[in-house]
Amino acid sequence: AATTRYEAETAPAVCDGTIDTNHTGYSGSGFCNANNAVGASSRFTINAATAGNATLAIRYAHGGTDTRSANILVNGATVQSASTFTATGAWTTWSTKTVTVPVNAGSNTVQLSASTAAGLPNIDYVEV
Ligand code: GCU
Repeated sequence: AATTRYEAETAPAVCDGTIDTNHTGYSGSGFCNANNAVGASSRFTINAATAGNATLAIRYAHGGTDTRSANILVNGATVQSASTFTATGAWTTWSTKTVTVPVNAGSNTVQLSASTAAGLPNIDYVEV
């Protein structure tokens, strides 16, 4: 089936931080630079045609040298704990991480919530 792209900077998406444009290569009009804090989140509202497992493609950049991690919540329930986002080499180098998560038919909230004080990588979009 065709995928739909949900930009991190476009409502109803919410970014606990700033929408930035200073690192090129992002899609749309910017990306979510979440705060460097535990629980800092990038949230999306996504649509699923059917209930069951959906593959989320999360586009991100991480120019640091550590691995960042995030809990992934769907409709408020944690479906993956400390899912890892490895360094991409530069803040302008964007990679895609895919995860499979359970969804309801119709509208779902997806939240990436930083597991550590390092915060999230920069988040460009989620495709479903
Ligand atoms: C740098 C970078 C930001 C990034 C931040 C971080 O400040 O310019 O885009 O979000 O590091 O460590 O999260």
